[in-house]
Amino acid sequence: MERINASIDFDRRFWREDIRGSKAHAEMLVATGILTAEDGAAIQLGLDEIWGEIESGQFNFSRALEDIHMNVEARLREKIGDAAGRLHTARSRNDQVATDMKLWCRGAIDALETALGALHRALIDQAERNAETIMPGFTHLQVAQPVTFGHHLLAYVEMIGRDRGRLADCRRRLNECPLGSAALAGTPYPIDRDMTARALGFDRPAANSLDAVADRDFALELLAAASICANHLSRLAEEMVIWTSQQFRFITLSDAYTTGSSIMPQKRNPDAAELVRAKIGRILGAFTALSVVMKGLPMTYGKDMQEDKEPVFDAVDSLGLAIAAMTGMVADMQANPEAMRRAVEAGFPTATDLADWLVREAGLPFRDAHHVAGRIVRAAEERGCGLADLPLGVMREQHDGIDERVFEVISVDASVRARTSYGGTAPDRVREQIAAVRDRFIDGAGS
Ligand code: ARG
Repeated sequence: MERINASIDFDRRFWREDIRGSKAHAEMLVATGILTAEDGAAIQLGLDEIWGEIESGQFNFSRALEDIHMNVEARLREKIGDAAGRLHTARSRNDQVATDMKLWCRGAIDALETALGALHRALIDQAERNAETIMPGFTHLQVAQPVTFGHHLLAYVEMIGRDRGRLADCRRRLNECPLGSAALAGTPYPIDRDMTARALGFDRPAANSLDAVADRDFALELLAAASICANHLSRLAEEMVIWTSQQFRFITLSDAYTTGSSIMPQKRNPDAAELVRAKIGRILGAFTALSVVMKGLPMTYGKDMQEDKEPVFDAVDSLGLAIAAMTGMVADMQANPEAMRRAVEAGFPTATDLADWLVREAGLPFRDAHHVAGRIVRAAEERGCGLADLPLGVMREQHDGIDERVFEVISVDASVRARTSYGGTAPDRVREQIAAVRDRFIDGAGS
């Protein structure tokens, strides 16, 4: 029974939240006249001492005492005697654990938000360095159209921006205080729930006592937001694995984020990127685990809900580590513009520009222009050169309306420069976007 029942091995992790909650509760009990000032003072002092003991590693956690709440209360009794038993007036472990867990999740959200801010900064700085660096843009992992590396990185800036938004939403909805719901039905004592809510930084007390002890939406929301964020990190990590490969060589990661092979001296493996790519597994696993725990649970609290902690802790730890590693890699990576350009030229990515030119300048219907451009691509393929290196005569064999002005649009640089639509890849646009995301996500962040 002790082994299956006890949660102290993992819930000791939120001992700070537990003591903060108890101190706020005791203060309120004194203010409302439920507890004497002497008892209140003894409780505050005792809890402060326990804080010190746990912080300095002197506290003896006991499995027989089941969880952090009972461990702290038992120690308080050793210290101050009977007054310790009065702390639990008008409260239950059900509203206590819900409060602790919310406080812990709120702190985790704040830490993740700070970490994502640092990742944002690294991405934006790298995008700025590469506002003009031309690379292939891909669909189906086939070369599609030329883009700039800065533009590509800004795509991740948007994703991380949404991740931060989801965490902020979750925090806003989470911020209602369960304390004072007691076991499930509320309490006959004249408590002041607004006071404890305020003391613990909540916006208001949770409105329904049954819901307050039964709710773990905030943990699920955090895990859902974490899973989507891990998804984004996984995609970028996968791109880094591809980009660092011999076949691509679009970027180099330094020894700081790669490892050598124990047998093949030439190798530099992108282990950190691979691990970031993988973390989604356990993070989404945590979301799945807790969703399955919560589904079908009748109102209100069930001990099932003790199973919320380990998945949440592990997911938050894993995501924090993945964000930190990704931030390091983004700052560390060096773009290799020559390799990017070789790859882009080899893919005939300006064939669309050529077709568009035929529509505009030679009056062809787009369908026909598409065919002509396709034949010109084949001619370039046969000669082993890029579109812009084809002699005009070869192009004119496919359509005699083509003249030398076509070279203004079929170079890779011209193609990129031409994409000036809002959100497009033209370097001027990318620089505008960089200024805008700095304002949205760095300087103006939090507003
Ligand atoms: N350790 C428990 C948990 O984590 C605390 C709440 C226990 N409540 C109860 N009625 N047994 O969920």
